[in-house]
Amino acid sequence: MDSPFGLLAELTYRCPLACSYCSNPLNIAEYSDELGTDEWLRVLAEASELGVLQCHLSGGEPLLRRDLVDIVAGAHDVGLYTNLVTSALGLSRSKGEQLRAAGLDHVQISIQADEPAASDAIAGTPSFHRKIEAMRLVKELGWPLTVNVVLHRYNIERIAAVIGLAEEVGADRVELANTQYYGWAWRNRDALLPSRSQLEAAETVVRAARERLRDRMEVVYVIPDYYSRYPKPCMGGWASRQLTVTPNGDVLPCPAAQSLPLPRASVREDPLERIWTGSPVMTAFRGTGWMPDPCRSCPRREVDFGGCRCQAFQLTGDAARTDPVCHLSPDHDLVVRAVEAANLPARARGVPLIPRPHGVARRARPGS
Ligand code: SF4
Ligand code: FES
Repeated sequence: MDSPFGLLAELTYRCPLACSYCSNPLNIAEYSDELGTDEWLRVLAEASELGVLQCHLSGGEPLLRRDLVDIVAGAHDVGLYTNLVTSALGLSRSKGEQLRAAGLDHVQISIQADEPAASDAIAGTPSFHRKIEAMRLVKELGWPLTVNVVLHRYNIERIAAVIGLAEEVGADRVELANTQYYGWAWRNRDALLPSRSQLEAAETVVRAARERLRDRMEVVYVIPDYYSRYPKPCMGGWASRQLTVTPNGDVLPCPAAQSLPLPRASVREDPLERIWTGSPVMTAFRGTGWMPDPCRSCPRREVDFGGCRCQAFQLTGDAARTDPVCHLSPDHDLVVRAVEAANLPARARGVPLIPRPHGVARRARPGS
């Protein structure tokens, strides 16, 4: 078993935005008893001991944690490379300067489209202008900046302008990631799934942008796996290189695994090392021994690891089945039908999005 390389520290699920593509859990009220500052500092030290090199401070909106500067400083002190994954609402100049002094290494800011009306409509909150200001501040304070855009039917045709916006604010990297259908995004899947012609147009734009910007800005494009022949190698394999700690201290191999019927593991009850090496949630699908056919006898079983366990569970009710995205899966028809529906002429008129409610308040704890 390898050491984990990356820790996704989900500091809170509270969030000022209400994006219809959100992949966080639906039952966020159950995560309101958030870890306190000292608990996070212990988790970060244990993660470093375990071999973790990169820590992504995420949420929800991590800037809603009043102790974010202390958490960044703690991660920095134990030698972790820190990446703040944020909507940027709340990233004032003084907060930025404090985070810089605490040792924050990198900032990733999400935006929903290239102009205010579309971006604010998708975010469910007026936020576009504050995001642009924050992007400029990030560059001014000397951080590397990634601009992240979750793509779907309602913004994928704006992709050229989105890349132009990232260029204009001086981003070092733009990440154009098609929606992953977990959490609220799963509820909105039929509305969000783009058509084949939208995807083909987007891919043409991405190829040209990569060529034009190759010395200036990295352009990362994540295709929607529903249109792929093979599934994504989710998380690089279950409990192989990544782990997630949720706001209340649950430890998971990926951010969506709380939806699976597996026993809980918590940093409030066990050290991270014991959870990583031996807890049932980590060992359930580690390696290849759990695989059914066709994965068991497939030459790609150590390339894509049978795809995504959470997606297999979502689509079939059984997390141990081959990811239905794979064209060899006995359940592939479930994906084929969704893609066919997304390409019906009537779908061009759109399916209404189910608006996501804003995040809930958490139970108060000192120091957070
Ligand atoms: Fe991957 Fe399994 Fe499909 Fe083979 S059968 S390509 S291992 S998902
Ligand atoms: Fe959980 Fe893919 S998101 S295994």
